[in-house]
Amino acid sequence: MTEMIADDIEIAEPEVPQWLRSDVLDGEAREQAMDMMRRLTVHLKAKTTDQADSTLEEPIDNYLDPEVFAAEVNLVFKRIPLPLALSAELVGKNTFKSTEAVGVPVVITRDAKGVAHAMMNVCRHRGALLCEGRGEARALTCPYHAWSFGMDGELRGIYGENTFGDFDKSQRGLIQLPVVEKHGVIWVCLTPGLTIDIDSWLGEWGPQLASLKLDECHVFSSRQMPGPNWKATIEGYLEAYHFAATHPNTVFTVNHGNTMVFDGFGPHERLGFALRTIDDVIDGPESAWDPSHHVGPIFWTFPGFSIAGGWRQRMTVALCLPTTKVDESITEHRIVVRHEINEEVQHELEVMRDWFYDVVYNEDYLTQYGVQTGVRATGGHTQIFGRNEIGVQYLHGSLNRLCDEGLAAARAEGDTREYRMPRQA
Ligand code: FES
Ligand SMILES: [Fe+2]
Repeated sequence: MTEMIADDIEIAEPEVPQWLRSDVLDGEAREQAMDMMRRLTVHLKAKTTDQADSTLEEPIDNYLDPEVFAAEVNLVFKRIPLPLALSAELVGKNTFKSTEAVGVPVVITRDAKGVAHAMMNVCRHRGALLCEGRGEARALTCPYHAWSFGMDGELRGIYGENTFGDFDKSQRGLIQLPVVEKHGVIWVCLTPGLTIDIDSWLGEWGPQLASLKLDECHVFSSRQMPGPNWKATIEGYLEAYHFAATHPNTVFTVNHGNTMVFDGFGPHERLGFALRTIDDVIDGPESAWDPSHHVGPIFWTFPGFSIAGGWRQRMTVALCLPTTKVDESITEHRIVVRHEINEEVQHELEVMRDWFYDVVYNEDYLTQYGVQTGVRATGGHTQIFGRNEIGVQYLHGSLNRLCDEGLAAARAEGDTREYRMPRQA
């Protein structure tokens, strides 16, 4: 009987995502992608990888200390442009997306003229959150007492206005946040009154992002994923050293491990991993090379915006940010595609969404929750990053520099608060 049942059961192979190659690479972007592939083939043959000059020790207290965390938040996260939405998340006029970044509720809108705005998602009557998720609307109406605001944040309507009493309505619009839309991304600064100079923030990284043509893409899915300390979480996006041990049955079956090319662009980073399909062409002519099929790129914009597989038809676009606590982060994890989304591709895209959620949450993030428990017990010691973990080393260098720059700018604005800067080993 048991055998009969066993004969009847078909054990299905787990489905893996179909990423599909694309033709997004052209001109200079294709030249650079080919160069990354060339460097990867040299590394694969020599069993090497791009490396930093030396190992780096990082004090564990930098992952634990609430005062260091407060400095990171106030001097960096609240001053720099954060990529809080994709243009593709606000398709068409009169659309909105609400989110929360480092404890600040934000609503991003596209008004009737197609112009993007960012405001605090906080009603100016008594502070209720105005909206949730994404949607279409001609006005944002508060769920508490039904005040309504235009998509530009202006206070438009007051329920029972004749009973409420007089006040200056022009002073009760939503609190505006600096915002810029560029390269298919809507960048928001969490401090009202600061200005965003997106070109100087991105520098040479701008053309890199532009080459991905995110503004032509479509968002299939978006999920929130909790994680531990933002640095412990993000470090996992920036190296291939962990693939074999952490992802033996998933990422490692698709990518070579511990092989990576790295390029820094200001605080931003471009990584290239060798997909196993590269083995088929590594000894062949370059005319048969297709970086969109043989290289897995990560375009990583500081402080936690990762576009993985951006040369293909289907990619993941994640944004990891801290919450208000040193030991918590939240990641918005999206599947973004270059092609039309219809019934025919629905199942494949669901497979991809769930595969990535399982890999990133169950393999990376659960391991990193372990890291968080580990660092909690080992304050006063250091961790060590290898020469092969160059992307992680670079993150810490960028963060230290931006903390210093943020402190100088805050002091110049008259901020006299004490800050505890990240410790040096
Ligand atoms: S809190 Fe929004 S209308 Fe009262
Ligand atoms: Fe991983």
